[in-house]
Amino acid sequence: MPQTARRIVLASRPVGDPQPSDFRLEEFPVPQAGPGEMLLKTRWLSLDPYMRGRMSDAPSYAKPVGIGEVMEGGTVSEVVASNSDKYRVGDIVLSRAGWQTHMVSDGSGLRKLDPKLAPVSTALGVLGMPGMTAYAGLIEIGQPKAGETVVVSAASGAVGSVVGQIARIKGARAVGIAGGPDKCRYVRDELGFDDCVDHRDPALPEKLKAACPKGIDVYFENVGGAVQEAAWPLLNPFARVPVCGLIAQYSATELPGGPNRVPPLFRSVLTKRLLIRGFIVSDFWGRFDVFIREMPQWIQEGRVKYREDIAEGLENAPATFMGLLKGRNFGKQLVRVSE
Ligand SMILES: NC(=O)c1ccc[n+]([C@@H]2O[C@H](COP(=O)([O-])OP(=O)(O)OC[C@H]3O[C@@H](n4cnc5c(N)ncnc54)[C@H](OP(=O)(O)O)[C@@H]3O)[C@@H](O)[C@H]2O)c1
Repeated sequence: MPQTARRIVLASRPVGDPQPSDFRLEEFPVPQAGPGEMLLKTRWLSLDPYMRGRMSDAPSYAKPVGIGEVMEGGTVSEVVASNSDKYRVGDIVLSRAGWQTHMVSDGSGLRKLDPKLAPVSTALGVLGMPGMTAYAGLIEIGQPKAGETVVVSAASGAVGSVVGQIARIKGARAVGIAGGPDKCRYVRDELGFDDCVDHRDPALPEKLKAACPKGIDVYFENVGGAVQEAAWPLLNPFARVPVCGLIAQYSATELPGGPNRVPPLFRSVLTKRLLIRGFIVSDFWGRFDVFIREMPQWIQEGRVKYREDIAEGLENAPATFMGLLKGRNFGKQLVRVSE
């Protein structure tokens, strides 16, 4: 076993888009497991948009990462030394080791994974937090009905791809919004959405309208910004808007210019009797048992497909994360930290 471990810490709080200098790669001695503890070696690190929020100390639903602290994140890790009765060397666990190669754990918050059931990396994607986000947000808040139109932004990504496929399972028309022709082709041809519109096309509002001839009944919001502005006028009376993410504005340093959009927004909420509900996936952890029974079945039946985008090596996590915020990922973004 190597004697040196590596970690990436938050070096400074970004102003606007994160920069390489906001991260620092450090080496440290591989820690030792104490009584009842075990040593975890990271195999897979999940990169997720919420990490941009943790880099900032603006008030939010979760505590920020401190300067000099290890960047937070979900991992799939291997138990490489164990003084615990519950876990043995070789066990694979879902953990929150963050952006580092090794961590000592007392076992709290871990979930043992069965590599025979599914590739273990899926515990960070379609069978994990992003899949659960799509499932809970769409079913609990969006409540799609057969024949309705569900529109989802960031449609080729970890959350959006699952939202549209569940919408189809529920008998709804699924329309994606994604960045660029390759992602749109994938969403339509491989994931089986009814249509997908490129948000980089200046004619987005007209193209989205053409893709939704009966208007929008559920708009699953992942993005905000110009995409939201294109979707909003198409909402039908009694439409539901699960507000899952607003990635287009995570690094914004000022409000957008132009007229105040709040009065027309609220007018449409009233006149169309819209339901808008923000949520954090943790609001629905109580439903995880149902999700983890249903989703593997849909995958097995070929009704839900997924795609992973794999970066190699912990040292590449910062650049890959900066790329994720710019749409350079194509599918669930992972970092292979070790074999
Ligand atoms: N509420 C919760 O508990 C919860 C949990 C998980 C995720 N989320 C949110 O869900 C959203 C999707 O997350 P994910 O993990 O599935 O990420 P993802 O979709 O796999 O990756 C992010 C995608 O966002 C799109 N994007 C970035 N900047 C954009 C912009 N300015 N305009 C339009 N699209 C932009 C890009 O796709 P394109 O190339 O297609 O533009 C990029 O690939 C994020 O907003 C995230 O914060 C919320």
